[in-house]
Amino acid sequence: MKILLIGKNGQVGWELQRSLSTLGDLIAVDYFDTELCGDLTNLDGIAETISRIKPDVVVNAAAHTAVDKAESERDLAQRLNADSVEVIAKETAKLGALLIHYSTDYVFNGEGSHYRTEDEATGPLNVYGETKLMGELAIAKHNPRHFIFRTSWVYATRGANFAKTMLRLAREKEQLAIINDQHGAPTGAELLADCTAIAIRTEREGKTLYGTYHLVASGETTWYDYARYVFDVAKEHGEKLQIKEVNHVETSAYPTPAKRPLNSRLSNEKFQKAFNVLLPHWSVGVRRVITETLGK
Ligand SMILES: NC(=O)c1ccc[n+]([C@@H]2O[C@H](COP(=O)([O-])OP(=O)(O)OC[C@H]3O[C@@H](n4cnc5c(N)ncnc54)[C@H](OP(=O)(O)O)[C@@H]3O)[C@@H](O)[C@H]2O)c1
Repeated sequence: MKILLIGKNGQVGWELQRSLSTLGDLIAVDYFDTELCGDLTNLDGIAETISRIKPDVVVNAAAHTAVDKAESERDLAQRLNADSVEVIAKETAKLGALLIHYSTDYVFNGEGSHYRTEDEATGPLNVYGETKLMGELAIAKHNPRHFIFRTSWVYATRGANFAKTMLRLAREKEQLAIINDQHGAPTGAELLADCTAIAIRTEREGKTLYGTYHLVASGETTWYDYARYVFDVAKEHGEKLQIKEVNHVETSAYPTPAKRPLNSRLSNEKFQKAFNVLLPHWSVGVRRVITETLGK
């Protein structure tokens, strides 16, 4: 089996290089590669890469993920999150290849306090969410043989993310104010990559489970409690933190260019049942990544 991985150096892409390596012949590209085009802004180049490689599976882990920047970079966000995804969907459909793509809870408006299921109405609040939704729709239209995994609050040992930012800030500052009215599940890039490998294997065994899935760790938290947990784990490992006071604030007290949903809770039951896996509590992976980041 030939697998083409686009976006090999992102948080999820990096972990996919590990988890997909045992499934078959893995060809991984990024936007700066010269031999094969992995640049999502180059639509002809991406099409050419797929038609040249003729993969059985394409996994697209590249995206415009800078949520605030996307507000002032709509054209670029649309090219990366939607236009290029349409090209990938069309090219994979021509080959009869499986397409795996990641999306986000930001396709929803975040109202209520329940865990959203896959069939609930979308209604993005910001450009990032709008363009990610356009990408989803393009895949659904052009390649029925797909998995779209909507996830949330992604972190990893590699790359920039909230957990690592909090660890740095807690080393530098005595006081922090952290948002406490947005709810979601921090989800590890490792978990996403391992579940992607499981999905590919399941599909290769002939199970046609195509469609959209919410793929997140179990449970829920707020940014405030998540940060507190990061500090607790660091302290358990004997890390010297400057932080003395952690206050909670509401989203309204912290204006950002992009509006964010308050309820990012996603129900992961459909994925667990379909693929017969258990998605662990969010704290399991966070503890692991903080421990690893501290070199313990
Ligand atoms: N991060 C989250 O909290 C989160 C939440 C929900 C869903 N998701 C989704 O999960 C997927 C993986 O996200 P992630 O956290 O791994 O994001 P990430 O770490 O930002 O990775 C995205 C990758 O895309 C690359 N990229 C940027 N411009 C590109 C271009 N023109 N062509 C090809 N690649 C380009 C980035 O490179 P540079 O870093 O050099 O720009 C980066 O390596 C994405 O689809 C994202 O929308 C993420």
